[in-house]
Amino acid sequence: NKGKYEHYMQKEIHEQPESLTTSMRGRLLRGGSCKAKSVLLGGLKDHLKTIRRSRRIVFIGCGTSYNAALASRPILEELSGIPVTMEIASDLVDRQGPIYREDTTVFVSQSGETADTLLALEYALENGALCVGITNTVGSAIARNTHCGVHVNAGCEIGVASTKAYTSQIVVMVMLALAIGGDTLSSQGRRGAIIDGLFELPSKVKEVLKLDEEMKDLAKLLIAEQSLLVFGRGYNYATALEGALKVKEVALMHSEGMLAGEMKHGPLALVDETLPIVVIATRDSCFSKQQSVIQQLHARKGRLIVLCTKGDAASVSVSGSCRVIEVPQVEDCLQPVINIVPLQLLAYHLTVLRGYNVDQPRNLAKSVTTQ
Ligand code: UD1
Ligand code: F6R
Repeated sequence: NKGKYEHYMQKEIHEQPESLTTSMRGRLLRGGSCKAKSVLLGGLKDHLKTIRRSRRIVFIGCGTSYNAALASRPILEELSGIPVTMEIASDLVDRQGPIYREDTTVFVSQSGETADTLLALEYALENGALCVGITNTVGSAIARNTHCGVHVNAGCEIGVASTKAYTSQIVVMVMLALAIGGDTLSSQGRRGAIIDGLFELPSKVKEVLKLDEEMKDLAKLLIAEQSLLVFGRGYNYATALEGALKVKEVALMHSEGMLAGEMKHGPLALVDETLPIVVIATRDSCFSKQQSVIQQLHARKGRLIVLCTKGDAASVSVSGSCRVIEVPQVEDCLQPVINIVPLQLLAYHLTVLRGYNVDQPRNLAKSVTTQ
């Protein structure tokens, strides 16, 4: 039931304040005056000791689920101090990459039925690793075959392009990072700020959804383009990959997400006055580096669309020449949840304006159960 919406993808984008709330329900404790703020993930509580002792955490997934894990990697490394590596499920299986008994492998999948991810799970089980599932589907193959895990609880997702499951997966993995990371005195301020940030996140998402009309206008400008680049770094490298994935899969427009730190190592050659480029430059520890990326792209006459923190338009737009999208600021590790929303809206409007099928993109299936 699409309710007042024309498409499931549109409904699911606009539903995110509610889906995020459901994903956090009963799992965040703000405590009283003497009780610390904390996180309770029922499915993991008996396994946290083992996870904390592991030598490495390996995130495994495909497509959007991989991107969600990538967005959560920095905070998991920061709070746990354990090295976190990333594996695209098919590539791990192709390489038969090393997985050890001392590893914790984390399988991220909306459907819980993706063939590539399931094969990687079988492989990790054979190698004796602890296997943790992060899935949105209760009773799915991944939920059943992992040793333990966390249900994402974003609600059923119908549009083939994953939107609300992505933002909920990130929130669940930030809670995972809080659960694994020790509650040391020195980390209490940071942990408290993240927990407060999680509580506020649904209302901030509601705020960013007001960009709908603005993103429709931007889509009108981009409707006939051949290609769109998206540059991000740090927490928002994943946002660049995920924004580009949405544009290519539904709007059928070539789009690449790129690590801004790699710009000078090749992609810069593509820049001219015709190619549109989105640069993600919200406030975090990478902000000044992104400001210099903007200057360098500007010097090569790049057609820039800058996604920045509210109030920063003047400091990111070189002599007012960029198109600017302003978003509310949240704790750095939660910013990817906010930043992806305008890009989801852009992909949605581009698709409708270009006349393509939003909910059933050409050649794609919701659940990829074949290799
Ligand atoms: C559980 C209940 C929830 C109830 C809550 C009350 C279920 C599905 N969830 O939620 O309805 O309100 O307790 O305390 O009944 N698991 C895996 N792999 C996965 C995902 C989950 O093995 O990929 C396992 C978990 O380790 C856990 C179980 O499935 O044993 C349920 O996980 P989850 O729903 O996340 O647990 P709770 O949030 O505690
Ligand atoms: C993109 C998309 C796909 C899936 C991928 C993994 O919008 O939906 O990239 O993310 O096929 O699917 P799950 O998460 O079900 O394992």
